Amino acid sequence: MANMKINLSSIGMEKGRQYETIVTTNNDGPTKNAAPIGVLCAGENRILNRIFKGSHTLENIIREREFVVNITHNPELFTVSTLGNLPQNHFNENLSLKCADAYFKCKVISLTKAVKQSDPIKKKGEAIVIKSEVTDIVINNQTNALNRGFGYVIESLANYTRFDLVDDSKKEEYLIHFKEAHRVVLKVGRKEDIEAMGEIKKEYLKRGYDL
Ligand SMILES: Cc1cc2nc3c(=O)[nH]c(=O)nc-3n(C[C@H](O)[C@H](O)[C@H](O)COP(=O)(O)O)c2cc1C
Repeated sequence: MANMKINLSSIGMEKGRQYETIVTTNNDGPTKNAAPIGVLCAGENRILNRIFKGSHTLENIIREREFVVNITHNPELFTVSTLGNLPQNHFNENLSLKCADAYFKCKVISLTKAVKQSDPIKKKGEAIVIKSEVTDIVINNQTNALNRGFGYVIESLANYTRFDLVDDSKKEEYLIHFKEAHRVVLKVGRKEDIEAMGEIKKEYLKRGYDL
């Protein structure tokens, strides 16, 4: 375990990109809470979260003004903390998760009401954008924060290789799927993922498909 100079690039986070993490917070009481939450890297030691009202995480952050962001690639941890409550024996005393490859501590700088019209969730005033300062980073195992972009690239490539083997309705499905994948990668992906999706799109366009 090593304390690092605070720079989110030490865990592979690039300014302007979004990563999927598990945010842990103190409940109002003796227990701790974990939930998957997207983190936008806003600088070496700055992050933004957008959290929908109604979650324990948002309530806890508003009350405590601090939280921990855990970096893990463990699907079980994401699943259990989404579908139910992560058992208390997964937490360290300092709020981090025992099996996190890395984690960082955050202090809230500001809380702002926000609605983004392009978002599939359109109810007004439902989300809060939280700007925070990263006050400590701990790396247990060298790791990069999880970005959703690469999964979409691999899936899009796999579908591309099957494209000539499937019937027209399946082709249509693949194209719809690709458009959605491209939208998400443009929004959250790393530069390399965006470039790769651009290459795949070019191939479909060359072949006369409308994207
Ligand atoms: C990968 C992933 C990322 C998520 N990111 C966010 C997010 O950025 N903001 C948010 O409000 N909810 C997000 N969610 C949904 C919350 O995790 C979910 O609402 C959760 O039940 C909240 O739990 P809590 O009530 O214990 O805080 C995400 C879910 C997943 C699976």
